[in-house]
Amino acid sequence: MKIIMLGAPGAGKGTQAKLISEEYGIPQISTGDIFRANIKNNTELGKKAKSYMDQGLLVPDQVTCDLVVDRLAQDDCKNGYILDGFPRTIPQAEALTEALKKSGTAIDYAIDVEVPDQVIVDRMSGRRACPDCGATYHVKFNPPSREEICDACGARLVLREDDKPETVQKRLEVYHNQTQPLIDYYQKAGCLFSVDGTEHMDMVFMKICQKLGMDR
Ligand code: AP5
Ligand code: MG
Ligand code: ZN
Repeated sequence: MKIIMLGAPGAGKGTQAKLISEEYGIPQISTGDIFRANIKNNTELGKKAKSYMDQGLLVPDQVTCDLVVDRLAQDDCKNGYILDGFPRTIPQAEALTEALKKSGTAIDYAIDVEVPDQVIVDRMSGRRACPDCGATYHVKFNPPSREEICDACGARLVLREDDKPETVQKRLEVYHNQTQPLIDYYQKAGCLFSVDGTEHMDMVFMKICQKLGMDR
């Protein structure tokens, strides 16, 4: 099963992708997480990505597409995957469609997690992220068991650099201009469905599972 998560920054793509990944045993591939890991390790890719990310802008298509095509060729993607944060532009979507065509396959589902901008702005200020393992929490909606400490690995949680309110505004603007057109793209491809991302995260997950045709 090949799934794409669509939705504004902070809509809950990562939260839902992780749950789907656990349920289906297929990898969650988050371009944002890959870039952040590279920034942390101070790689060439990380240096390039950071300048864009800190401003709330997209990393150039070529860099991102090459990275994803390489990743999808790895062994653990044989039975499918969930792309979380890719594609984000029409050229990225076209590159993905082309790459899949070469192996005679296509995306099975594109899931659009719908959340209005105002809810996003409120949500982001409460998000906390683990700098070591990438786990995501929310001070109100999904708090860790020990305040400011990652449940998974014990590291101290941080507010992501790009979650400052000014940068969130910029990311929303970029989303509406460059990423929202993908909803139409995948609608036309016949694989899109939407879920209301303002509901409780467990409810959102249940609805996704129903649409994916699973018994829960
Ligand atoms: P990326 O890391 O992908 O960030 P994003 O798309 O902006 O999305 P987020 O990760 O911020 O949000 P999310 O939808 O995953 O929400 P989450 O589950 O965490 O990208 C970062 C940057 O990298 C980009 O700006 C760009 O520069 C670059 N980049 C990445 N991919 C790229 C690409 N393909 N091309 C070019 N550049 C690229 O949830 C958010 C918060 O809400 C959490 O605290 C969570 O606990 C909480 N929450 C989740 N669901 C609910 C709910 N139902 N109710 C209440 N709270 C909830
Ligand atoms: Mg995410
Ligand atoms: Zn952690």
